Amino acid sequence: MIIGNTKLTSNKILAPMAEITDYSFRTIAKKFGCGLTYTQMVSAEGIIKNNFDTLRMCAFSRAEKPIGVQLLGKDPAIVGRAVKELVRFKPDVIDLNCGCPVDKVYGKKMGAYILSQPDNLGKLVKEMVKNSEGIPISVKVRLGHKKKINVIENAKIIEDNGASIITIHARSRSDRYSIDPNWDWIAKVKDTVKIKVIGNGSIFNATDAEEMVNKTSCDGVLIARGALGNPFIFKDKNYLPELDEIYTTALEHTELLQKEQDVRIHLDRAKKNIIWYFKYLNGIENLISELYSATCFEKLKEIIYNHKNRLLENYYPQSDTEDIRKQFNNKVLFWLAKKEDKIIE
Ligand SMILES: Cc1cc2nc3c(=O)[nH]c(=O)nc-3n(C[C@H](O)[C@H](O)[C@H](O)COP(=O)(O)O)c2cc1C
Repeated sequence: MIIGNTKLTSNKILAPMAEITDYSFRTIAKKFGCGLTYTQMVSAEGIIKNNFDTLRMCAFSRAEKPIGVQLLGKDPAIVGRAVKELVRFKPDVIDLNCGCPVDKVYGKKMGAYILSQPDNLGKLVKEMVKNSEGIPISVKVRLGHKKKINVIENAKIIEDNGASIITIHARSRSDRYSIDPNWDWIAKVKDTVKIKVIGNGSIFNATDAEEMVNKTSCDGVLIARGALGNPFIFKDKNYLPELDEIYTTALEHTELLQKEQDVRIHLDRAKKNIIWYFKYLNGIENLISELYSATCFEKLKEIIYNHKNRLLENYYPQSDTEDIRKQFNNKVLFWLAKKEDKIIE
């Protein structure tokens, strides 16, 4: 897939994920073959106000390219100015979030709210394109609202106003992860527009990715939950890493986070990633409770080293992997879910 002047080495793309797709996560994904990564969503207003946290969330290094920055905003003038600021750093794509369903975003008329505002959607895209100095603009959408699926209309608006890419998470605003995505809509959009179409929704291995391309003819696939603790998904073929590779990758990821300056944030983030790496192996409950009490990076590294050795010695009883898989697919922070709300995202 080619975007702008850049030919991606793979059509598998890392999805934007809040508080997850930071420098460390993106670096590991790229190492395993990911063709394009995204920052998490960042506030357009935060960018134009030079908000420190916002700028940190969308900072990236040259070595990470190709990379996309995702913006959250509703006011075309503000989003346009944010694009102008970003252009200086030469990201390869600038994306607009029109899919976030959570109340604190939707309630402010941003994210998926924009799906029901065709006029504003058009103005937002136009303003982004006007200020982007040729950097491709993309828009990430959901299908619409349950009662009004309007992804085809929105795709035309996005194309007509000059965007180069549309990314479709094939669920409606209110669909939880327990509802299967409807990939047929990706195929219908691909039949309708000439711009690049990236499909998204429940890709958990290389076979799923191939299947989405075959069924929808999309140009690329965007992977979110399937990449958590599993950068191996970006390899060409289905690939089951040995324990040693899981361990060294979890350690490398933890050390990249350790280099960051905000120890409080990054220690919690490292714990989250470590749990994802080991989630389908025995002893995960034990690992989770040990990680909870750790207060420094050195302790985290000691815990995963010991955990790996116990796994090698078959120390733990057999886990119910299917149950963990179900819990994870419905709620990525599955270890925080109470028994009764396991399946609520
Ligand atoms: C923890 C988490 C954080 C997310 N944050 C963002 C975000 O910042 N921007 C965005 O457009 N989508 C976000 N998403 C949605 C994903 O990018 C993706 O569209 C969705 O999870 C469906 O893909 P999947 O089935 O591969 O998980 C997030 C998803 C998860 C699980």
